[in-house]
Amino acid sequence: MTINDAVLQSGEKIIFRLRELYDSRGYRPYRMSKFEEYDLYAGNKDFLVSDNVITFTDPGGKLMALKPDVTLSIIKNSIDAPEMTQKVYYNENVYRVSKSTGSFREIMQAGVECFGQVGTADVGEVLHLALESLAALSTEAVLAVGNLDLLSRLITRLELPADLQKQLYTAVGEKNARTVANLCAASSDHAAAEALQELLLLHGPAAEIFPKLQALLSAAGEHVTTAFEDVINALTGSSLAPMLHLDFSVIDDINYYNGIVFKGFLRDIPTAVLSGGQYDRLMRKLGRRSCAVGFAVYTDALDRAEFSDSATGTAGDSFVNIALPKGRLGEQVYDMFARAGFECPSILEPNRKLIFENPEKGVRYFWVKPSDVSVYVERGAADIGVAGKDILLEYAPDIFELLDLGVGACRMAVAGPKGYRDDPSRTLRVATKFAAITKAFYLAKGRDIDIIHLNGSIEIAPILGLSDVIVDIVETGATLRENDLEVLETVVPITARLIANKASFKFKNKPIEKITARLAIAAEE
Ligand code: PRP
Repeated sequence: MTINDAVLQSGEKIIFRLRELYDSRGYRPYRMSKFEEYDLYAGNKDFLVSDNVITFTDPGGKLMALKPDVTLSIIKNSIDAPEMTQKVYYNENVYRVSKSTGSFREIMQAGVECFGQVGTADVGEVLHLALESLAALSTEAVLAVGNLDLLSRLITRLELPADLQKQLYTAVGEKNARTVANLCAASSDHAAAEALQELLLLHGPAAEIFPKLQALLSAAGEHVTTAFEDVINALTGSSLAPMLHLDFSVIDDINYYNGIVFKGFLRDIPTAVLSGGQYDRLMRKLGRRSCAVGFAVYTDALDRAEFSDSATGTAGDSFVNIALPKGRLGEQVYDMFARAGFECPSILEPNRKLIFENPEKGVRYFWVKPSDVSVYVERGAADIGVAGKDILLEYAPDIFELLDLGVGACRMAVAGPKGYRDDPSRTLRVATKFAAITKAFYLAKGRDIDIIHLNGSIEIAPILGLSDVIVDIVETGATLRENDLEVLETVVPITARLIANKASFKFKNKPIEKITARLAIAAEE
């Protein structure tokens, strides 16, 4: 069938292109209802991208949901046949809360699922289809492949308590080398600790990285599984091999996923456009004996890109765009960049300009509000930036945290009137700008609190009786002293961190790693 391309919207063209691809590879279309019983999602909330679900009651009184996800429905509505291989594709609308607007959006999603008897060849085929999906959208794409089994083998060897283990997975996902090193230091298995830290630095084209991976693992008495080796070998022989990267920071919830997990990126699109992996653990949770592997393409992430009839790539921006926090900390941080060899003399001229570039060094700086740096970086308006750990903990942006710059040191603390004693029989009223940090801190203690969200001058709240205590930044302690308040407890120490957009880190890797390495030296001086 020929459809006049001119009448299709860009999102529809993408879906059309992908459907043709999946059809041509022998996958059959899977259609489903827009609704599911809510129970399916209630029992598997962590598997969902966002845990908000639109619910309603059907005429029979059953609580139903508008689908927030497709995979769970496909598995629930398919027969469990571990002896046969079922291969399906879909394009369906899902209903999710958008992180940026905080409201529900209808999102067109396309994807592929292969379940039942899933061998190495099937996993390889799905990964190849993911590569082909990216290639159908742009000539400049990267499929970053990680391996959860490998990662969890090393992490298990460290024998850390469950909470530290969880922190370690998060730190690996953020490429946060400092935190990984600190957590590894608590283990007596030095070989595993070293291998994990080296694994974090190992990323790039699979053909180049795979032999290094084997060497690194054998030094720790580990090895890659034959299945992983076979999949990678088969793919590195393909014409799309240059797009295939290994990157062990690609992780997903280990309660659902196992083995190979992957994310697809296109140049100039700030977030992953494709995500998938092997999810045998989800199958077990749903009572299935079968294995499974699949991926989804997020067409909402592609919204901003212009797609022509044929796959095209853009030249991209040759500058590394850097968001710096306005104010005293920003000046200190710029000075560090200058010492690292990335100076930009125009930034020192007395004017109100906010953007400065030095083409010779390939850097472009922006001054932005300190609390906005992570927004610029997460959404790709800046490739890298410097943000306080307080902002990163509060907003949990999906970024890499590459370096602790050591500057801007202060702490997040609970403070209250001098001599304040907590009465555990009453709900504690806490005034703060940092609601998420405060909530997590008191949840861990099991203390019942009421958060009063303020935007500044937090210290006034306990003085006027608006709150019992505050959770806020303490640097010199002068503000507390001058208002007859004192620190009751430290929540977390804070310093400025170098952060990077995950897609920029792939497509501008060399200059970003060069800046990171030189800043690491400047930070030590
Ligand atoms: C921060 C923080 C404290 C103060 C702490 O306020 O919220 O009020 O600095 O510094 P100190 O320990 O050195 O006295 P900021 O200046 O950012 O203004 P804000 O009141 O708008 O939060």
